[in-house]
This record gives sequence, structure tokens and C-alpha cells, in this order.
Amino acid sequence: MLPDPESPTLLSRPPAISVDEYRQRREALMAQLPDNAAVVLPGAELMTRSRDSEFAFRQNSDFYYLTGIREPDALLVLLPGRAEGESVVFCQDRDPTMEAWTGRRLGAEGVVAEYGIEQAFENTDRDKQLLTLLAGRELLYLPLDNTEAVSVAEDALSDAQAGLRRGRPPLKGWLDISPLIHAMRLIKSDAEIALLRHAALISAHAHRRAMQVARPGLCEFQLQAELEHEFVWQGASGPAYSTIVGSGANACVLHYIENSAPLSDNDLVLIDAGAEFELYAGDITRTFPVSGRFSDAQRALYQVVLHAQQRAVNAVQPGGTLADIHQGVVYDLTAGLIELGLLEGEVQARIDDESYRRFYLHSTSHWLGLDVHDVGTYRLDEQTPRPLASGMVLTVEPGLYIPSDDDIPDAYQGIGIRIEDNVVVTNEGHEVLTADVPKQVDEIEALMAKK
Ligand code: GLY
Ligand code: MN
Ligand code: MN
Repeated sequence: MLPDPESPTLLSRPPAISVDEYRQRREALMAQLPDNAAVVLPGAELMTRSRDSEFAFRQNSDFYYLTGIREPDALLVLLPGRAEGESVVFCQDRDPTMEAWTGRRLGAEGVVAEYGIEQAFENTDRDKQLLTLLAGRELLYLPLDNTEAVSVAEDALSDAQAGLRRGRPPLKGWLDISPLIHAMRLIKSDAEIALLRHAALISAHAHRRAMQVARPGLCEFQLQAELEHEFVWQGASGPAYSTIVGSGANACVLHYIENSAPLSDNDLVLIDAGAEFELYAGDITRTFPVSGRFSDAQRALYQVVLHAQQRAVNAVQPGGTLADIHQGVVYDLTAGLIELGLLEGEVQARIDDESYRRFYLHSTSHWLGLDVHDVGTYRLDEQTPRPLASGMVLTVEPGLYIPSDDDIPDAYQGIGIRIEDNVVVTNEGHEVLTADVPKQVDEIEALMAKK
């Protein structure tokens, strides 16, 4: 049933990540650094959208992971072993005029009191304090792709070279902090998994709503509106990435975000949409018939993708690898394409000559977390895929995209199907976070019949 506007239910929310957990993350990061090193990690800045209006602020995920702070223009400095405090944050100045326009700012006091940071300064004091804090540190760790961090390091080097602080060890250089933080972010804590579970639940509700509302004559953007309404209504900040609603052949465009076409009776519609809750992403894809009933050709192709997807989800367990899961999907999709007459010959031959790639050219999984395509390497080295371990979170999202080419039977031309779930690796195997939105043909048809 569609949610009743008279008695709507707000899904019960998981607790926020505790100040203690953020502190433990900073300590775990510092424990990996060599002696006499420091970390410099800027948060995100506001970005101009047009003239004097800005995009909604989204904190840098690495900065957020280590602090929980959501204000722009902040900078984290980690100084292992410093007696006055190892974690220092520079933040926006308190400013009554600005705060009258854009809301309360934490200020240095708020950062210390509310976020468990040991020492904080407002940005007005940054020039005076930052180089003093870094003086005598031999190695700096920073995100090398961040121009602000690199410029802090260059200033620290000039400062050291100017010999202002003779007798202290010289700054030898700087290294990338990102791989260390990203390796930590790859394994989610219980509190993070609870937030991801909630983002997935909101996303699932939104997909159910879109399935129930869909009918011929609506436009793709109207389904987008239904999904995003549900996200925000449930307290998500909005979509975790641009919502994809692709009907008919638009479903074959992998990153179709125009969402402008009318929905036609005979088409499938592919929706790839997920909510961002407390900065954690949901990422669900479902594909269903606008009419509420799959045609024979649509159902036949759908069952091929569903079979591959279910086997791939079942293969998620500690010690498995994304490479093996992808290979299994490629095998199942290729076998299905041969069975339907869209490819010819032996399964292995079509895998070896990569002819399946005409219909399936993306990979099956990516990590999921604070970022929809979350951080963490997929390989231990060139040859070795990373084994799955408890606490990793990933998507499983095989698809088939059939071009509208002359050599393809009419009934299959322009059909795009993807089915995507979010899965946590557990000690026992896995947990599917997105099971609340149907993917079996009969369940989808039954839900769509309940208008
Ligand atoms: N929504 C982006 C993806 O599925 O990877
Ligand atoms: Mn995905
Ligand atoms: Mn997706």
C-alpha cells in the first residue's frame, strides 16, 4: 500500500556514531604512523552553484570519518604524542552577522565540547598556530590530491628551511594519508552498518513507492520525485547520487540522469536510486514493467539477470572475492544469453572472446559506505584480489543491456535490466540490507497491483 498521508510512519532511526568511536578512529590512525609524524586533513568547502548561491554542503568523507564534524572550512591536524592534545581542529570563526544569515557555528569551544577534539582554534588564528603546531615534525601525512593540504605542507617546509626553529629535526617531506584512512573505512563498525542498514531501508521504501505509483503516461521525473520525496520525508539528506530513472531503451544508458521521457505501457523502467542518511549511502536498482505485468521477452531476460544476481549474493562470504563473484555473474549471464539466442556457441568461448560485453560491460560490485563508490582497494597487489572479510559492505548489481540493433530479435531490442542489492559481509556469510524491496517477478507484479 502507498503510505497513508494521514498516518505516516517514520522509520525508527539508529543512533549516531559516538564521539568515542571518532576518537578511537583517530587513535587507530595515529598508531600506524612512524615517530614524529603529523596528519593534515582539510574538510570540504562550500561550492558555488551560481552567482551567490551555493550547493548544499557535503562534508569530505575522510574528514567526517575522523571527526563527525559537518561544518565547511575546517582542518584536522593530528599530532601523535603532543601533551596539550593530539587532535586539533581549525574551524570557522564565530561571527554573529554570518550566523544570523546561515545559522549557528560551532566555534572552537563547540568543536571541543561536542566532538571530543582536544584543542580547537578558529580560522582567524590559523596562520599564527598551524605552523607552530607542525614545527619539528619530520614527516607530514596528507591527502596528496588536496591543494590546500599540499600548500600547508609547502608552507611548513619553507618555515622549517627558514631555520626559524633551529635545533628541531627538519621536515623531510610528505606522504599520502588516503590509503591508511581508506583501509580503515573499508571495514565498517557495527554503528556504521546500522546507518547503512537505515539508508538501505529508506531507499527500499522509496523503490516500493515508485513501483506502486508507476503507470503509463507519467514521466520518468515523476518517479524520481516520488523516490526523493520518500528519502527526505524519512530524514535522509536526499539522494546519495543522481537518481537514474530510465524507461525503455534509456535503461541501456548506464548513467542516464535526464529522467525526462514519458513512461510507455510496453516498457520496463530501470530505477537506480539510493538515499544518503547521516552521510551513508544506499544504492538500489530495480527494474519493473510500467504496465505492472512483464511481457514474455522481458520476463525471460529478467530471469537471467535475477538468477545471476541471486547466485552472486549467495557467494558473498568471508574469503570470497569480488573477482570470483563477477566471474560467476559473467558465466550465468553468458549462459542465459545463449539460451535466449542472443549469443551463439559455447559459454566459455563467448566469455573468452568477450562477446558477452556487448550486453554487460560494467563490473558486478563496488564497496559502499560514506561514498556510494566507497574507498578501499579491490586488490592486495596486481595479481591478488582482496578477500572479503566481515564488516565489508558491497553492492551486487549485474545487468543486461540489449541494444536496438537490426541483428537482435525485436522483442529484446532496447531492454535494459539491472538488479542491485547492498550486502554486508558477516562472520557467518552475509546480510542483505535491501531485502525490503521485491525483486521476484511475482512479488513485483503483486506489489504493483496494490495501487
Ligand atoms: N548508482 C551507481 C552505481 O550503482 O554504481
Ligand atoms: Mn552501485
Ligand atoms: Mn546503483
